[in-house]
Amino acid sequence: MKTNIKIEAINIKKVFNRTTVFSNISFILEEGSALAIAGKNGSGKSTLAKIIAGVLTPNAGEFIFSINDKEIALVNRFKYLGFVSPYLQLYEEFTALENIQIYSGVRKLNFNNKNLSSLFTKVGLFDRKGDPVRTYSSGMKQRLKYAFALLHQPPLLILDEPRSNLDSDGISIVYDIVKEQKQKGSVIIATNDKEDLQYCDSIIDLNVKVNNSNK
Ligand SMILES: Nc1ncnc2c1ncn2[C@@H]1O[C@H](COP(=O)(O)OP(=O)(O)OP(=O)(O)O)[C@@H](O)[C@H]1O
Ligand SMILES: [Mg+2]
Repeated sequence: MKTNIKIEAINIKKVFNRTTVFSNISFILEEGSALAIAGKNGSGKSTLAKIIAGVLTPNAGEFIFSINDKEIALVNRFKYLGFVSPYLQLYEEFTALENIQIYSGVRKLNFNNKNLSSLFTKVGLFDRKGDPVRTYSSGMKQRLKYAFALLHQPPLLILDEPRSNLDSDGISIVYDIVKEQKQKGSVIIATNDKEDLQYCDSIIDLNVKVNNSNK
């Protein structure tokens, strides 16, 4: 089901400790497309991804997140997005299934068990879903993050370093997820990897933005 998502960023600026990470970031992301955030280490990819997710607030600029032409308030944004990132913490002592139950309980997310089973199958963890996360390899933890992100079938999927710790099978699963997500909504990928860019329709290069803002 299409959700008619539209994201518009107008002159976004982020400052940490008086240092401007980026400024004048503007883009429009429409339904059915993927946007890449590229740039070297420290250029602000994760920072921008967090601003889009509503985890961080920008110092200047405007950000409009709308579904079917209705603007979504910042506090509700999490309901409409899934976020895969290196800084998502999992409870090591709980099983993958328990982690998902805790997370969806806290966030009051709706999902059905059939969808959950198919997600575990999709990410190749069906047989390991009852094992504590501390027994997972790093690639298995990364795969689990995709199950988390897709659980509530969000219209926006934000991937920060999407291929972290993944083997070639894991990377093809990610690309399948990206292609499927573009049928249902939109994708934002923060990456340093050129191959990831092939799946994106437009690119924000933060290196260029940093250079421009220093002029
Ligand atoms: N919480 C914070 N407090 C202060 N500075 C921060 C904070 N988070 C990030 N920064 C700074 O903001 C800049 C951008 O960091 P960010 O993590 O967004 O970069 P990145 O492009 O994602 O890098 P990488 O490719 O290494 O993941 C860096 O200079 C970083 O030190
Ligand atoms: Mg980063």
